[in-house]
Amino acid sequence: MRVLVIGSGGREHALARALARDGDVTELHAAPGNPGIARIAQVHDVAAADPASIAALAARIDAGLVVIGPEAPLVAGAADAVRAAGIACFGPGRDAAMIEGSKTFAKQVMVAAGIPTAAARSCTGDAEVSEALDAFGPPYVVKADGLAAGKGVIVTTDRGEASRHAASCGTVVIEEFLDGPEVSVFALADGSAAVPLLPAQDYKRAHDGDAGPNTGGMGSYAPLPWAPPGLAAEVLATVVQPALDELRRRGTPYSGLLYAGLSLTAAGLRVVEFNARFGDPETQVILDRLVTPLGGLLDAAATGGLAGAGLPAWAPGAAVTVVIAAEGYPGTPASGDEIDGLQDAERESGAYVLHAGTCRTVAGALTSSGGRVLDVVGTGPDLASARAAAYRAAGQIRMRGGWYRTDIAADPGR
Ligand code: AMP
Ligand code: GLY
Repeated sequence: MRVLVIGSGGREHALARALARDGDVTELHAAPGNPGIARIAQVHDVAAADPASIAALAARIDAGLVVIGPEAPLVAGAADAVRAAGIACFGPGRDAAMIEGSKTFAKQVMVAAGIPTAAARSCTGDAEVSEALDAFGPPYVVKADGLAAGKGVIVTTDRGEASRHAASCGTVVIEEFLDGPEVSVFALADGSAAVPLLPAQDYKRAHDGDAGPNTGGMGSYAPLPWAPPGLAAEVLATVVQPALDELRRRGTPYSGLLYAGLSLTAAGLRVVEFNARFGDPETQVILDRLVTPLGGLLDAAATGGLAGAGLPAWAPGAAVTVVIAAEGYPGTPASGDEIDGLQDAERESGAYVLHAGTCRTVAGALTSSGGRVLDVVGTGPDLASARAAAYRAAGQIRMRGGWYRTDIAADPGR
């Protein structure tokens, strides 16, 4: 099977790494890729969010399966374009990807399907916003309706800040505050059937102790020793399957990865958000533990073959990812800073480095080119050893202005 991965971040490096280990993947391509991905796949130029350009590349290299990593091409209709070219594609079409592309649409699907989630109102204009803030009370949760790379949401007790964020966003969703540990449960879906993956936890705030602004994610770990047994099965039954059934009923069947971001509240699990693609950096730890060949799973999801696929197998032990971010992230990140020490980091037993926002200069130096620059993945027989391996390796990496949280997986179940 010849596979093309679309994207250039740490998630795509993790996908490429897992696909490269699948004996049935005979050729691995990526576009636009990054210097880490280029070591294991043939990389190509592509206009990353342009459906026609992605479909044309897939046809040119005669891909058997296209795996679309990020949300932007999905929401733009890249999966539709690839399928229209007669090529199997892992990822929802434009209409189904609206589950991530619009918070209002996601809420409508949840309400129609009876999926437990925070009570919410979709608001435009000061009067509606003000009424909703009063109705829900603090802490205020205000979400921009469209895609915002994980940065469109604020949770605050400051009413002025909540109003100002709402005013800067156009249409917003204002919702009830959910109090409980957060968990990410991903499921592979083929339009009607789904298979859950290993639950993981990520760290969305920028700084230690969950302080600072929301980011795309600063670290992750799996498995979750504290999570209730049967969590993935419960999410499949109460969240994923009802969402798939509702989307199929609406004539927009969902295939690809359905990401359920959950809060485990005292009253039971509640959906915080849906995403239409693998989460980043949860994917890095989940795929690290996956034993079942990834290409076969993604191909089954893309071609309607999950019903008989069985549950994926997971390696014992644990994985922890620490994200190394650029100076200024999640605001305007610095770029062009030289990166050193990767080989030293990978000499650490049980650790490796994925590229998230890197590029090569003409002279061949590796430099930063994004907010999240590297993902250091530590593995071990348990969470504590995986965490120690990740941090020993992270400590070897040198980059001006580079920084990371020091408390990833330090407080499992927080
Ligand atoms: P979202 O983009 O919807 O996942 O929101 C980003 C982050 O904001 C989530 O991971 C939560 O940490 C926080 N958040 C979102 N919605 C809520 C909510 N209703 N109650 C509490 N925290 C929330
Ligand atoms: N780690 C959060 C996300 O991928 O949206």
